[in-house]
Amino acid sequence: MEQRRLGPVVGLGTYATFEGDTRLAGGVVGAALDAGSRVFDSSPMYGRAEASLGAALRERRAVAFVATKIWASSVEEARRQYEAQRRFFGRVELEQLHNLVVWREHLPWLEAERDAGRVDRLGVTHYSAGSFDELERALRTGRFDAVQVPLSPVERECERRILPLAEELGIAVVVMRPLGGTGAPLVRRDPGEAALDPLHPFGIETWAQALIKWALTDPRVDVVIPATSRPDRARENARAGEPPWLPEGERSLVERYATRF
Ligand SMILES: NC(=O)c1ccc[n+]([C@@H]2O[C@H](COP(=O)([O-])OP(=O)(O)OC[C@H]3O[C@@H](n4cnc5c(N)ncnc54)[C@H](OP(=O)(O)O)[C@@H]3O)[C@@H](O)[C@H]2O)c1
Repeated sequence: MEQRRLGPVVGLGTYATFEGDTRLAGGVVGAALDAGSRVFDSSPMYGRAEASLGAALRERRAVAFVATKIWASSVEEARRQYEAQRRFFGRVELEQLHNLVVWREHLPWLEAERDAGRVDRLGVTHYSAGSFDELERALRTGRFDAVQVPLSPVERECERRILPLAEELGIAVVVMRPLGGTGAPLVRRDPGEAALDPLHPFGIETWAQALIKWALTDPRVDVVIPATSRPDRARENARAGEPPWLPEGERSLVERYATRF
């Protein structure tokens, strides 16, 4: 079964970073695009992040891949969110059902939108392993092209069922929270410059890059979407999207550093 249907690439998350600050968004998105990131993940749930992202992409929309979401408990509200996504210039490359909210009700009209060519792919997301049973049921319908779940050395529940299922079904995997979530608690476990020496041959200069490359090394993962409010970090993170990937020994080393406290 073909894997890595979208990647491997580093994208950009937009949760709790620039919200409605379009100038900041322009700087971060521009830096990400210049560094080769193409996938931008957002949601109506992220305050004004979608609006800022749309404005930031204006000049370069053609080269971007917009992965956003529907997060609504009724079809009526969902359709309002979808209309507002015209800010992405009439096209959404990946429309995801956020946190499985009434996903059975939304699927038929979203499939009609996909058939009409306004959406390329449909996906489904959940941030909590406690909902992976339901996520699995949704994926087994065979009606989704992508799934988004958390994956890092300290959040590995998806490795047991969701990644194998994605592989079996041949669907793309998007990884959220590669740095441990807002505030990047995993980045604060930086083992120090000398400890990163064995990772330099793999293009890794910083601990954040080690964590991102750790996730992207899994061949079932297509896109890793760290969020940042800093253009320099968008560039730093994007560089972790280049091979060579980590051999088993170096990948285990990252795990040991990340879990050593
Ligand atoms: N569907 C869902 O339920 C769901 C849930 C969570 C997340 N997501 C998606 O996944 C994306 C990523 O997850 P996340 O934002 O929760 O967490 P994350 O990407 O693991 O971490 C984001 C944090 O990392 C910091 N950071 C980024 N690059 C860094 C670097 N190179 N060095 C040091 N710190 C760095 C950022 O701070 P600075 O701004 O200071 O750089 C930010 O606080 C979200 O933005 C969102 O698009 C989806």
